[in-house]
Amino acid sequence: MQGGPIGVFDSGYGGLTVLREIRRTLPQYDYLYLGDNARAPYGTRSFDVVYEFTLQAVRHLFERGCHLVILACNTASAKALRSIQQNDLPRLDPERRVLGVIRPTVEVVGEMSKSRHVGIMATEGTIRSHTYELELAKLCPDIQVTGEACPMWVPLVENEEYDSPGADYFVRQRIENLLRRDPLIDSVILGCTHYPLLLGKIRQFMPQGVRIIEQGSYVAESLRSYLARHPEMERRLTKGGSAHFLTTEQAEAFRSKATVFMGQQIEAERVFLE
Ligand code: DGL
Repeated sequence: MQGGPIGVFDSGYGGLTVLREIRRTLPQYDYLYLGDNARAPYGTRSFDVVYEFTLQAVRHLFERGCHLVILACNTASAKALRSIQQNDLPRLDPERRVLGVIRPTVEVVGEMSKSRHVGIMATEGTIRSHTYELELAKLCPDIQVTGEACPMWVPLVENEEYDSPGADYFVRQRIENLLRRDPLIDSVILGCTHYPLLLGKIRQFMPQGVRIIEQGSYVAESLRSYLARHPEMERRLTKGGSAHFLTTEQAEAFRSKATVFMGQQIEAERVFLE
């Protein structure tokens, strides 16, 4: 069987923060990133639409030779992952795998919170799905979870306003709101892959003593452990250390922004999903 790269999917640029961490941890593999920039953000879209778009992306990455696809997007992981794993994979190809970012994040939270009060900051779609609460209830039923939707944060990142003075208001407002709703919170999960790009501002407004949980490194560690436990999948991954980038928007726009996010020169190719 012919091997292929690891597929990494996000609605836009946010998944690049996950790809960066995965490549740092597992530099030997080839990667194929797909950003659905033309249709981002996903955060305010309905369950059906996010599922349909995500399935199209997964099919595209499979056609390009990926045997393993990471949904580096919380909204897609919350709204589409389970259906794809249960209903579509058996039909598309039972040998291939699609993994998400929520489970690896939830697995580390139990060890981090002393107060057992945890906050989740994420898109409206992820918060409304209650996926974090449901996953946390399975692993750590003693933890009290409060979710705060931050609808302006992804547009700030997608429009390169994450460092602007204008971003201060929106970042501060959501953090204050979350901590007003539960002042005992001692750990906050950044449950959206775009948010690490706002980290400077988030640190500025988050009180000291509240831990900020970024998911990139946990997703990377979880992938490392998955591959160690699944040698049959590991053998199917090509190992050239490369990364290629696909986008549904204009390649030039993606190239220049992604170069900033990745901190290295990248080339992108435009694709059409259906
Ligand atoms: N970055 C994605 C997430 O982790 C989605 C952002 C969006 O498209 O709204 O949720």
